[in-house]
Amino acid sequence: MSVVQQASINGASIRLVYPSMLSADPTRLGQQMLDVELAGADGIHWDIMDGSYVDAITFGAHVIAAHRKLTSLPFNVHLMVDNPDRHVTAFSDSGANSIIVHPETCWHLHRTLDIVKNLGKKSGIALNPATSIESIEYCVDILDIVLVMTVNPGSSGQEFIDSQLKKISTLRKKLPPEIEICVDGGVNPSTFKACVENGANSCITGSFLFNSTDYREAIKCLR
Ligand code: DX5
Ligand code: ZN
Repeated sequence: MSVVQQASINGASIRLVYPSMLSADPTRLGQQMLDVELAGADGIHWDIMDGSYVDAITFGAHVIAAHRKLTSLPFNVHLMVDNPDRHVTAFSDSGANSIIVHPETCWHLHRTLDIVKNLGKKSGIALNPATSIESIEYCVDILDIVLVMTVNPGSSGQEFIDSQLKKISTLRKKLPPEIEICVDGGVNPSTFKACVENGANSCITGSFLFNSTDYREAIKCLR
C-alpha cells in the first residue's frame, strides 16, 4: 500500500510529517532525530546542499549512513545539488528511501528518475516556487513524490509563499492519487492546513518543529 493510500485509510486524513534535520542542533543531530521519532515523526528529511546550486553546504552521504544505523524511519533525501546523477548512488547506498531532485539540476530528468527507481528507491521531483509543473508531465509513470517548494531552496526559516497553493491544487487535480504531494518551506499549522485543503498529503517541517519546546505537541498541531 502506498504512503498516500495509507494517509487516507477509512477516509480519515492522516497528514504525514517529516522533520528536516537542517533545523536541528548540528552538535546533537542523532539525538534530535531520535527525539522527533519519539514525538511521532513519519520520516526524516535530509536537505543536501552543495554550495553551488544553492549557497549553503550541508550533509554528505556518510552523515546519512551514520544516522541510518540509529532508526528505521524512512529517510527522504532532498538533493539541492548540481548534476545529481553524480550523487544518487552514494545517497541510495547510505540508506535513503526516497531521493528528490530539482529539474533545473538534471541534464536528463527522466533518466535521473529512472536511475533512482532502478536503485529500488522512491523518486521525487522538487518544484521551486517559479518552476511550472510541465516538467513532470512525461515522468508521472516513474514518479512517487512531488515536493512543492513553498520557499526558495537554500535555507530554513523563510516565509511561506502563498502563490504555491494554486500549484498544489493544480497538481492534485492532474496527478494520480498515489503520487504524494509534499510541501517544503515555511510550514506551520496554519500554512499546512491551507496546503492540505488544496490537496497536499505531507509536509517537511524545519524551524517550526525544532524551535518548539514540545516536539510531540508541534507534530500533533501540524497533523
Ligand atoms: C529549504 C529546505 C527545507 C527547509 C525547511 O531549502 O528544502 O527543507 O529546511 O525549513 P523551514 O520549515 O524552516 O522552512
Ligand atoms: Zn528540503
